[in-house]
Amino acid sequence: MKTYSNSQWDSWFESLAVNDYVIIDNFLGADLLQLVKDEFVILEQKGCFGQAAIGSKNEQKVIQEIRSDLIYWINKNDGILQSKLHDLFLALKNLINKHCFLSLSDFEFHFAKYPKGSFYKKHLDQFDSRSNRMISVILYLNKDWKEGYGGELKIYPTNEEPNTIAPLQNRLVMFKSDALPHEVLVSNFERKSITGWMLHQPAKLYTIVGK
Ligand code: OGA
Ligand code: NI
Repeated sequence: MKTYSNSQWDSWFESLAVNDYVIIDNFLGADLLQLVKDEFVILEQKGCFGQAAIGSKNEQKVIQEIRSDLIYWINKNDGILQSKLHDLFLALKNLINKHCFLSLSDFEFHFAKYPKGSFYKKHLDQFDSRSNRMISVILYLNKDWKEGYGGELKIYPTNEEPNTIAPLQNRLVMFKSDALPHEVLVSNFERKSITGWMLHQPAKLYTIVGK
């Protein structure tokens, strides 16, 4: 992540608080962005991506009429890039806690690939049975995206008209997981991103305590 001033973060988080979402362009420095893109290709070549599911870990079902993306969960011990991304999410989590007075305690994130023709129907990221997702964080990785390629993130804010957000390379979008309905429009090209969630309880605790 590049270095941004406190007042810059303040204005971004103000937008997140007021509008339920914020868009930050050119988020990563060029070196880290390149590493991310290279690793994405390596993981694809190794066949690491699997069909995404819906619902919490205990009730996961693959429902292709609702979503048809492929994902790979990132673990900080998997490699240098994974550990750098872990540090980035940790820094972001701490910034959100500081500026938004939240007490986020963990995060989870995966690479996502939407093959040509795939989509994710309108939904909220907070599931009924597992309500610990607080802030959704998506970084897009599509260098040559153009109008007509599809795959836009369509959001439905409470106080605004729906808005479509192009999945442009190095664009970061953050939104409130429980408040902002959204969908991924049919993608006419292979669409790549990192998608993560800031959690208010450690992810693993949920499998022990339930809700
Ligand atoms: C999700 C999601 C949006 C996007 O994974 O829950 O809504 O733009 N992703 O990739
Ligand atoms: Ni979502």
